[in-house]
Amino acid sequence: MDTTSTTETGKEVPTVDTRVTRLLGIKYPIIQGAMAWIADGRLAAAVSNAGGLGIVACGSAPLSWVKEQIDLVRSLTDKPFGANIMLMNPEAPELAKLLADEHVPVITTGAGSPSNYIGMWKEAGCKVIPVVASAALAKRMERCGVDAVVAEGCEAGGHIGELTTMALTPAVCDAVSIPVITAGGVGDGRGMAAAFALGGEGVQVGTRFLTAFECGIHEDYKKKVISAKDADTIVTGRNNGHPVRQLKNKFSRDIRKMEADSTATLEEIEAALAGSLHRAVVGDVDNGSMMSGQVACLVHDEKSAQDIVADLMREACAWSAFDLQQMADRNAQRAWRA
Ligand SMILES: Cc1cc2nc3c(=O)[nH]c(=O)nc-3n(C[C@H](O)[C@H](O)[C@H](O)COP(=O)(O)O)c2cc1C
Repeated sequence: MDTTSTTETGKEVPTVDTRVTRLLGIKYPIIQGAMAWIADGRLAAAVSNAGGLGIVACGSAPLSWVKEQIDLVRSLTDKPFGANIMLMNPEAPELAKLLADEHVPVITTGAGSPSNYIGMWKEAGCKVIPVVASAALAKRMERCGVDAVVAEGCEAGGHIGELTTMALTPAVCDAVSIPVITAGGVGDGRGMAAAFALGGEGVQVGTRFLTAFECGIHEDYKKKVISAKDADTIVTGRNNGHPVRQLKNKFSRDIRKMEADSTATLEEIEAALAGSLHRAVVGDVDNGSMMSGQVACLVHDEKSAQDIVADLMREACAWSAFDLQQMADRNAQRAWRA
């Protein structure tokens, strides 16, 4: 199923040919998830140069910043890359046009349906991949003519839906014929192999890239991700319909208290949330929102984007080469890494 290629560092990395690698023109079926305030041109270019697909997150940044980051990626790599729009952003229409004008090779979208923009993007030659949290939305997106979908389970960091990756990936695969990329909880080769076992033809990874050398978040945020245990994330925003997964800290506990307090107004909560991810990104790990997925508990180190991609590929290909009996035997020995 896999063939082997060699990275610039001389290490052998197995590759796998999927509809996702062919669609996007990439070597490995690994997409770096968009991360607002975090996924800039430098990180995106590093992942694309590593053979995956790097994505610039537009978040709520000014259009001029987005244009700069697109120029930066293009100056650092000649490989395909993408950009992501969060559709609840009031500037989404202007951003959508900018990405079309720039002929960004791949556009991913979060938090809703991009149906109004798909025609413009396709005309500009962009591949369109919405992130979905239900099979119903995936079906609707397929009818609108998108190229693939990312099925993102609620283990993921940032804005999330209700369903777990384990239930959502096969449900979406059964609902659509276009390629499905699994996101949420993929942090090592076991997770990647599991995503393929569930029906995925690629993975989107966010949290694992938070501690890439090329990721510009503050070292204190990175340290919190590296030291996180399995129960160290918390979801805020369930009351207002915008649930967000992040690491537990003073900020997230305060927000949860406000949400439980019937005297706190929605406006007060929104004021407390404003700018909270950015505060964490620049190092305020007490009063900022350190968005992160549950899979932070499997992230133990800082390493290059290239090593993250190569290790995911090596581990996933090795693990998926075993049959169930061999997996069971290795699991008994806690020896899943081949
Ligand atoms: C800090 C952070 C910020 C994120 N921001 C965005 C975003 O701006 N747009 C988006 O579509 N998804 C966003 N996500 C989701 C990721 O793109 C990705 O789908 C998710 O992290 C995958 O799950 P994982 O965290 O378990 O790897 C964010 C995730 C994190 C951790």
